[in-house]
Amino acid sequence: MNANQKPITTTRLQRLKQKGEKIVSLTAYDATFARLIDEAGVDFILVGDTLGMVVQGLETTLPVTLDDVLYHTRMVRRGVKRALLVADMPFLSYQITPEEALRNAGRLMKEGGADAVKLEGSAYLAETIRRLVEAGIPVMGHVGMQPMRVHQYGGYKLQGQGKSQADKIKKDANAVQDAGAFAIVLEKISRGLAAEITSSLTIPTIGIASGSACDGQILVSYDMLGLADQFNFKFVRRYLNLADDIRKAVKAYSKDIRSGEFPAESESFE
Ligand code: KIV
Repeated sequence: MNANQKPITTTRLQRLKQKGEKIVSLTAYDATFARLIDEAGVDFILVGDTLGMVVQGLETTLPVTLDDVLYHTRMVRRGVKRALLVADMPFLSYQITPEEALRNAGRLMKEGGADAVKLEGSAYLAETIRRLVEAGIPVMGHVGMQPMRVHQYGGYKLQGQGKSQADKIKKDANAVQDAGAFAIVLEKISRGLAAEITSSLTIPTIGIASGSACDGQILVSYDMLGLADQFNFKFVRRYLNLADDIRKAVKAYSKDIRSGEFPAESESFE
């Protein structure tokens, strides 16, 4: 096995930061996408609670359950050989008590096959993060815009504007690192604030809608592949337009069936 095939570990992500090499990540929700994304060489794959929006058709991530994330993590596990597999902890699966967080994070690892968990949250979760890390569960933090707080924010708004808000996010990021997280997602904060946090932390920062100074980047795969084209975000770069391709393919298939062109003799048996 050469170095490029070796499974990615949490410590490898930390070494990438030390070497100044960017960390690449995408979300996945099923075995087929996970296999393709893994084969293309990303460093970690997140089974995000965004599955609620792009797979389940929900308005927000709030109704996603632990069982939903478990179900998708098991599928993704079967497709991933090399990337680090991180499972998202859904709303209220870790905020009630550290014991409940430990039980639920444990399920994502034992039953789902995750290598690590991610949780949205700030300094108030330090004790919970410490508890998971002490039990041997690697934790990725997530500060800045936390989609679970959409109703509190009144929308998916840029966070950290003004000195006191920016200071709070810096404090949160530090608290998450001090509690033992191995990496942290910075979502929808200004590129200046993301740069400051990235240079002040020793753990890698993974940016989404937070500029290029972060140690790595993540996007929702359905957004960057142009599959969830009902969403249109400034921070997403679309590398494909799969939604259009799928509509075109289904129209062509329908036309071929209706005209009697499909299936041809070569596509059937004697
Ligand atoms: O749930 C998710 O997909 C996420 C990423 C967008 C960071 O949290």
